[in-house]
Amino acid sequence: MQICRDRQAMRAWRQGAGRVALVPTMGALHDGHLSLVARARDWLDAQGGGRVVTSIFVNPTQFGPNEDLATYPRDEENDIALLRNAGCDALFLPTVADIYRPGAQTVVEVAGLSRMLMGRLRPGHFRGVATVVTKLFNIVQPDAAAFGEKDFQQLAVIRQMVRDLDIPVEILPVPTMREADGLAMSSRNRRLSPAERAAAPVLSRALDRAEGMVGQGAGLSAVRAELRRIIGAEPLAHIRSIDIRDAADLSRIALIQRPVVILLAVRFGEVLLIDQRVAHPK
Ligand code: PAJ
Repeated sequence: MQICRDRQAMRAWRQGAGRVALVPTMGALHDGHLSLVARARDWLDAQGGGRVVTSIFVNPTQFGPNEDLATYPRDEENDIALLRNAGCDALFLPTVADIYRPGAQTVVEVAGLSRMLMGRLRPGHFRGVATVVTKLFNIVQPDAAAFGEKDFQQLAVIRQMVRDLDIPVEILPVPTMREADGLAMSSRNRRLSPAERAAAPVLSRALDRAEGMVGQGAGLSAVRAELRRIIGAEPLAHIRSIDIRDAADLSRIALIQRPVVILLAVRFGEVLLIDQRVAHPK
């Protein structure tokens, strides 16, 4: 696996690489990230072959001033070993100074989608994501890029951006990988205390129940109340937001008539966990 530590090295490698699929990450890799690498490989194989590039960059512009940039987990050595094992062809590992050079003035903002839901909870977050993903796309120039459905709104933002700006990158959505007890895999899970870790699967349990209720024709307020009841019964869980939106465009709904996405943001100690589920009415 080729390791490229700056833009020049990445561009040089890319020149002779043929078809490329990119997996953008912030490192501290787990099996969820590796499932994106596998998806990228499958896509390339279906196209007749190519190379998988993973990027690891803890992007400062998507963290708010009171967020966990300083404590975001970093584990470069282990990440490199995991990617080698997963058959990744190249790793882009730039520094902050290489990506954000002095005097930059341009940002990318998906105006509507960035300001709702997690965008309200984390102002500026999706602008940081859209800007860095654009930069990664321009440096690596991939043919396709894989993103997890776990970050449902992020995936929606990227899809909208690619459409609006005619970016020639195919977006590959990947289902959420979970631990055996249902907890969605996340780099942030390693910051949970043992008690918080034991409590965190309440999110997927609540989503299971909500999905079942939607499938049986339950209404919006009944589903919302049940989510609050189940999560509220866990003393270590602090609800930041519970939203039920149209799964197609994240718009608000008055009635559940089409597939919905249930979006949870719940804090355990210092750690904000998110999870989501698409549910289909009967
Ligand atoms: P990060 O949180 O490292 O996630 C990188 C990618 O892995 C994202 O597309 C995310 O949705 C996906 N992912 C995370 N956990 C997953 C799981 N349990 N199952 C499947 N996929 C999962 O998301 C980011 O980094 C950043 O915002 C980034 C897009 C790299 C821009 O900085």
